[in-house]
Amino acid sequence: MVLTALAEEKGFKMINAEKIRLDFPILEEKVGGKPLVYLDNAATTHKPGAVLDRLIEFYTRMNSNVHRGVHSLSREASGAYEGARETVRSFIGARSAKEVIFTRGTTDGINLIADIFRETVINAGDEVLVTEMEHHSNLIPWQAACAKKGAVLKVLPFDGEGRLKTDELDGMLTDKTRIMALSYISNVLGTENPVKDIVRTARSRGVPVLVDGAQAVQHIKVDVRELDCDFFVFSGHKMYAPTGIGVLYGKKEWLDRLSPYRYGGGMVNSVSLDRSEYAEAPFKFEAGTGSLAEAVSLAAAIGYMDSIGMEGIKEHERRLSEMLCERLAGIGGVTVYGPPSGRRGVVSFNLEGAHPYDVGTLLDKMGIAVRTGTHCAEPVMKRLGVPGTVRASFAVYNTEKEIEKLAGGVKKIRAIL
Ligand code: ALA
Repeated sequence: MVLTALAEEKGFKMINAEKIRLDFPILEEKVGGKPLVYLDNAATTHKPGAVLDRLIEFYTRMNSNVHRGVHSLSREASGAYEGARETVRSFIGARSAKEVIFTRGTTDGINLIADIFRETVINAGDEVLVTEMEHHSNLIPWQAACAKKGAVLKVLPFDGEGRLKTDELDGMLTDKTRIMALSYISNVLGTENPVKDIVRTARSRGVPVLVDGAQAVQHIKVDVRELDCDFFVFSGHKMYAPTGIGVLYGKKEWLDRLSPYRYGGGMVNSVSLDRSEYAEAPFKFEAGTGSLAEAVSLAAAIGYMDSIGMEGIKEHERRLSEMLCERLAGIGGVTVYGPPSGRRGVVSFNLEGAHPYDVGTLLDKMGIAVRTGTHCAEPVMKRLGVPGTVRASFAVYNTEKEIEKLAGGVKKIRAIL
C-alpha cells in the first residue's frame, strides 16, 4: 500500500506482476513438473494474449500484401501496417513515421547501416568507434565493414564497475571517425550508458551515432529526439512482440542521403529496363514483402506496454534486480558483474568453483530458465576474465517470488559444491 501511494505520487502505476502473468499463456507451462520460472528475457520475452490475438487476427481477417493492391483486404492490411509504423514513431518519439524502417530485428538494422556506410561513407584509413561492451550484433558488422575497406575499428573500454570510460571518448574521436555505434544498455552488465551525453560529444565532433536499443526499449522510456542519435535499432521479440520484426530509426537527413541496401519490389517509384527511380524513406529501405503480421503485432505489444506504463515497468524491474543482487550477496561465493547501481534488466553472476553451464543446468532442473555462456558478447567475457556467466534477465511478469526461487536455487547449488 505504501509503495502504491509512493508510485502514485510520482505519477505512475505500481505493477501487479501476479495479475500481469495471467496475460501470458506460456507462463502456465511446467518444466520437469515444476512451475516455469522464466528469467531469460534478455534473449527473448514471452508474448501476451493481446499480441498473439493480433497475430491471429491479421491472418484470419486481413491477410494480404501491403501497398500492392486496390482490393479491400490489401487496403486494410496496408492501413494496419502503416498504423503500426505510426505507433512505433510515437513509442520512440520520432519526428516522422518516415524515419521508421521495419527490419527483421536489431542485427538486421545494424547490418543495414553498416553495409550502406561501408559502401558509401567509410574509406581506407577511416575509423569506426564501438565500445568494449557490445554484443556481437553491434560489433561484427563494424569489424567486417572496417576489414573490407581497410578502416580502423576503435574500441571505447569499460571500467572495473562495468561503466564506459567516457572520459576517454573525446580523445578517441578524430576527424577520421565516420560513425560511433554503442548499446544503450549492456546485455551482460546491465549498464545503462549515458547515451545522451555520448551522442552530444560525438555529434559535436561531427560523428553520427547509432544506438543499439535491443536491451533498452522494453525497460525504459526511449525518446530518440531527446537522445539526438542519428540511428536507433531494436527488436520486437525482446519487447513482447513476435520474432522477425524490428525497427531502424534514422534521422530524415540521413535516410534521404543514404542509398538503398537491398533492391526489389516495393522500394521504387518507377522502373524501366535500364534504370529505376527509388521511393523515399522508409520504403526505399524495405525491398520485398516485410514481416507484416509481426509488424502489426509489434504495435499491439507497444499498446500492451503502454497500458502498463513504462515508469511502472522500470520501477518493477529495478526492484527485482536490486533484490536479486542483495540475495546473491548473502549467499557467499557469488560474483555479480556490472555496476553496483543503475543496473537495468539483467544480473550476471558466477558461483565460485562452478562453471556457468553447470549452474544453468542445475537451475533448469528446478524449473528456472536463465541464460548461461558468453551471451553473444565474447569480448566482454574476455575483459571480465571468465568463460561465461549465469544471467538472469527480467520482464514485467517476473515476481519477487521468482527471485527468491532463483536465489534459493543458487544457494542449494552452492551447498552441494
Ligand atoms: N543478445 C541476446 C541476448 O543477450 C541474444 O541474449
